[in-house]
Amino acid sequence: MHASVARPEAGSAEHRRILAKFFINSVVDYRPESIEWPSLAPADLERLRRLPFWQEAVSTENVTSNTVAAAARLETDIGLRRAIELQGFEEQRHARLLLELARNYRIPVETPPRFEPRSLEDDFLYAGFGECFDSYFAFGLFALARESGYFPAQLVAIFEPVIQEEARHILFFVNWVKYRRSLLPWWARPAFRLRCGWIILRQIASRMRTARTLGGDEPDGAENFTLSAHRALAEPITLHRLLEICRRENDRRMACYDQRLSRPRLVPAIAKFLYRVLPASL
Ligand SMILES: [Fe+2]
Ligand SMILES: [Fe+2]
Repeated sequence: MHASVARPEAGSAEHRRILAKFFINSVVDYRPESIEWPSLAPADLERLRRLPFWQEAVSTENVTSNTVAAAARLETDIGLRRAIELQGFEEQRHARLLLELARNYRIPVETPPRFEPRSLEDDFLYAGFGECFDSYFAFGLFALARESGYFPAQLVAIFEPVIQEEARHILFFVNWVKYRRSLLPWWARPAFRLRCGWIILRQIASRMRTARTLGGDEPDGAENFTLSAHRALAEPITLHRLLEICRRENDRRMACYDQRLSRPRLVPAIAKFLYRVLPASL
């Protein structure tokens, strides 16, 4: 972390400006419907079809994209509103990309119904904190899939922009939460922190349920498949080693963005703690 960089006060005009600018300027252009999918050897195709999470992945992206797109209505700052709209578009594009992959390789996946968020802010916070967990582990899993050679490099490369977009989303989100809190009068901020804390606890509880099933063969919860996916993506590795890779990849993916923006801290801290306390053999 570049400690020497002066960070503008959260929620200040300068903070809002660099936050919107970082996001809007790092959008990449691709169309899932124009991708040329590599033809796969039968063994590769079989391995791809056997991955247990395609339907869950499409459902998660669908819920997130509808939640994020709706949350743009919360925003009065034009730049930030544009950034959230773009994020909603990107989540939608993730779902489209997965559906294209499924169509191309004949993986049975259903298009989920449109999701209607109940509370714009609560649902956005829930989705955002969830992404902070999922993305951190997805960074490591993706590196495993890439480095193991378990999947053809051409196929892995198609998903590279998706993973980098998730890095941008969580970087945007943690700064947005700070800005959102700064809009409140001082006496209302503790309640906002408590609400965020409660949402984070719900997300942790959900991941713990998944972690408990890691050793068994039961199907995992629909919304946090990344924790259990490592068994299907590469040769078996220890959880300890996976945490190490996640940390390296998180730092690498975050490094290129404006150093004046706050970095996600909670999930890296939890991962660091687990890394310290878990036996290296696990
Ligand atoms: Fe996504
Ligand atoms: Fe995302």
